[in-house]
Amino acid sequence: MGKLIIAIDGPSGTGKSTTARLLAEKLNLPYVDSGIFYRAITYLLFKNKIKPDEIKRIEQIAKKINLEFKDEDVYLNGINVTKEIRTLDVTNRVSSVSKIKEIRKIIVEKLRNYAGSRGVVMDGRDIGTVVFPEANYKFYFFCDLNTRAARRQQDFLDLGHKIPLKKILLELKKRDELDKNRKDSPLKISDDAIELDTTNLIIEEQVDFIYKRIVSANNMLNNEL
Ligand code: CDP
Repeated sequence: MGKLIIAIDGPSGTGKSTTARLLAEKLNLPYVDSGIFYRAITYLLFKNKIKPDEIKRIEQIAKKINLEFKDEDVYLNGINVTKEIRTLDVTNRVSSVSKIKEIRKIIVEKLRNYAGSRGVVMDGRDIGTVVFPEANYKFYFFCDLNTRAARRQQDFLDLGHKIPLKKILLELKKRDELDKNRKDSPLKISDDAIELDTTNLIIEEQVDFIYKRIVSANNMLNNEL
């Protein structure tokens, strides 16, 4: 197998990240959750009280972002921010930050560097459309809104926050709206992406769906040679 780039896009709560992580393990490829980068910059701007129109400062901060992943933990410029980047405060603000084109340019550049010699599994909103338009495989996950909200509620519970479903539904709808309608690299289905409705699927089925496609495509290729 040559270099393998797998892009998984879609809205929040469709199970992209968990699927992508397990798939990467199975294929022995690096995994990158691109949303973490947008969450990290959002967290830094919020913490340092920087306004969205302070573009020069924002660019300086974005360029200096260095993320390291150790087990399940995320280190931002050497500091463990695993919990901080997943708070409702950051989640509520991230889509307003990620629509700033200067930020996207810097982060897209950083993301491309993660496709080493073997490739990468990456999930996000614009991976198949903008970050890796040449990806070998592109998937677009979607899912019923109430199911997504219930999944997100469980994620928050796992982090120790009990949040009413209604609040989560509102947050999801608002973020979908902003992510789909922004000018620069909106969330949309790439023409060549395979779509998957994850409403009634468990994670293992989602991993299997992608894995089988990759393996059968490679077998076909080998048989042709
Ligand atoms: O974890 P969840 O699915 O809720 O979101 P995420 O993947 O952590 O992404 C958080 C936000 O970052 C999204 O709502 C987008 O606004 C932004 N994002 C983006 O613009 N482009 C990406 N490739 C990934 C995330």
